[in-house]
Amino acid sequence: MTSNVLTSEPALDAPLTFSAFRGGFPALRAQTYLSICDKMILHRRVRAAVEEFLDRLEMASVNRVQHEQRVASARRKFARLMNVAPETIAAIRNVSDGTNSIAWALPWKAGDNVVLTSDCEHPNNIYPWLRQRRRGLELRVVDPLPDGSIDIDALISAIDGGTRLMTVASATFAPGHRTDLRALGEACRKRDVFLLVDGVQTAGIMHHDFSIEMVDGFATSVSKGLLGLYGFGFLYVSPKWIERLEPAYLSRPAVVQKTDDHSTMGEFDYEYQPDSRRFEVGSFNLAGAYAADASLDMLLELGTENIEKHVLQLAAKFHDGLCELGMTPAVPGRGPKQSHIVTLGLINAGGHGFSTDPTIQPLSEHLVERKIAHTIRRGQMRFGLHAYNNDADIDSALSAVREGLQRIKSGSAS
Ligand SMILES: Cc1ncc(COP(=O)(O)O)c(C=O)c1O
Repeated sequence: MTSNVLTSEPALDAPLTFSAFRGGFPALRAQTYLSICDKMILHRRVRAAVEEFLDRLEMASVNRVQHEQRVASARRKFARLMNVAPETIAAIRNVSDGTNSIAWALPWKAGDNVVLTSDCEHPNNIYPWLRQRRRGLELRVVDPLPDGSIDIDALISAIDGGTRLMTVASATFAPGHRTDLRALGEACRKRDVFLLVDGVQTAGIMHHDFSIEMVDGFATSVSKGLLGLYGFGFLYVSPKWIERLEPAYLSRPAVVQKTDDHSTMGEFDYEYQPDSRRFEVGSFNLAGAYAADASLDMLLELGTENIEKHVLQLAAKFHDGLCELGMTPAVPGRGPKQSHIVTLGLINAGGHGFSTDPTIQPLSEHLVERKIAHTIRRGQMRFGLHAYNNDADIDSALSAVREGLQRIKSGSAS
């Protein structure tokens, strides 16, 4: 008898089905996890990869170049996930690292502008642009639509002769609408405007194909849907732009090297890497690379087209169930703006972790009691789904919401 039978867990090399994938997350035995918009949970294969890294460190059994093969491997796998060439991907730290890298690399001229909907962006994709105002950049802020989503037409109309870059989230962190990257990509490409995407909410969960979406830059950490660790991420940069971008920071990985001698300085007259590696800086977060390399294997095996289909079906079921309970989710349950994110309550009725809505706050407290993991962002109750979720999770969440609403109505909620 194998230990897998004893623990009733799937073997590490079993073919990966959605339910086998689910079985690898210990956190799911303790709670109904609907909070991927906040942070990842750890799959035991990812944990095993990090332990392999630690074992190698402990025994000093591998040198740095050998460790860095995991960085190269993770880069290749992320490129495959997004259907682009590996050379277009840089290993970075997080979204902020990627957005700031692009902000400092574009050759701004006085009077240039950046178009964005600050109301729909995470602060880490606003501060980098506010910083550039000190260098003469103008920010063109476009209002969201009344439903809280990004107004694609208004963003395109805001482009003028001075626009160098537009930035959007692939799905907003709240309310959670998905953004039509194809429409924006086409419009930006025609006008030679750099389309930079903060992709952390959708990477690994929604299907992306940069050859169709025509984005010029895409920054993500692996700490949400890519199911890795904090402090590691990827930056995609389209080959169309690379020669026009000068990295703000420079160290060995970003420079063409004529030898493998890592400690010898090359020519003073250096050349940037001809690809996205020009945005890599110094030593890598190797634990993060081992983790991402392992999680990407599973995401590739499941396939993001399948993951998206699975997750959107669950989101539609959750949406419909909430409507039956008299709630009105902010993101539609079907159509192009639907995502893996389901939010309840009015945007900005409260803030990070609290709501001023007389139903949302006690309902959230009830869901915490019932171990339904979720978050409150911008005052909205927020749920996020991934490939490991199933119908039973949606049933548990709906039953907890039903019970919570009854308690609130009867005045017995805490
Ligand atoms: C849309 C979005 N962008 C960025 C971040 C975080 O940025 P970083 O990866 O730089 O920490 C979050 C985190 O919640 C987010 O939801």
